[in-house]
Amino acid sequence: MSVVVFGAEKGGVGKSTLAENSAAVRAELGYRVVIADFDNQGTCSKWVSRRDEDPALSKIDVRRLAADKRSDVGAFAALIQELADTYDDVFIDVGGQDSAVFRASLAVADKIIVPLTPSPDDLDTVPDLADVVRRFDKPLDIRVVLNMTSGQPIMLRDMKKGLASYADILPLMPKTIGTRVAFKYAKVSGKGVAELSAKDGYDANAANEIKDLYLGVFGK
Ligand SMILES: Nc1ncnc2c1ncn2[C@@H]1O[C@H](COP(=O)(O)OP(=O)(O)OP(=O)(O)O)[C@@H](O)[C@H]1O
Ligand SMILES: [Mg+2]
Repeated sequence: MSVVVFGAEKGGVGKSTLAENSAAVRAELGYRVVIADFDNQGTCSKWVSRRDEDPALSKIDVRRLAADKRSDVGAFAALIQELADTYDDVFIDVGGQDSAVFRASLAVADKIIVPLTPSPDDLDTVPDLADVVRRFDKPLDIRVVLNMTSGQPIMLRDMKKGLASYADILPLMPKTIGTRVAFKYAKVSGKGVAELSAKDGYDANAANEIKDLYLGVFGK
């Protein structure tokens, strides 16, 4: 059983997309998978309902708390405990806006993936996150993955340079994920990028990047 958190303070960095794609790989391998959706927009929930329309796809469940409970740490912990008792893998999609729930997610996580894009704004969020991790009362298995990296080599270089000084506390995954339209195609069809067919926009680069992310998280 594993609890994997996709979290970041910054919006729009790929938390939901990478949670969906990792869940799809895992479900395809036959594991019982659930996404705990703490994104206020319910992005993963919508993706799962599109996925449910295609009986050929492996089943992924999704759970959300009511809006008024989404910042409630007790409700969060109870839900994750219930899911951890029921499923092989729990993927948590959580923003850092509500720091109490974000911290609670770190406490229950086996692994934490922080997507960031090559941008000065994203780099600005790193010191605070490093502080949270440093002050946490247990060592965390946390890594940063750089997402949507295509076409901006200078910013990517600067991002890697900026992150290098946090390498002990927030190590960077060696492989980056490009900006690829296949992620959008996958989003609208309830699929992971590896599940797309040639006619609905399969891109081997995107599929390989998700495979690398998966291997980085699960190791096999
Ligand atoms: N590697 C990628 N290539 C192309 N588009 C991407 C990629 N990763 C994410 N996206 C797109 O970027 C947008 C933001 O991604 P996503 O919703 O996963 O981010 P998020 O961190 O969950 O955002 P929020 O903080 O709003 O919940 C989406 O439109 C998604 O399709
Ligand atoms: Mg999201």
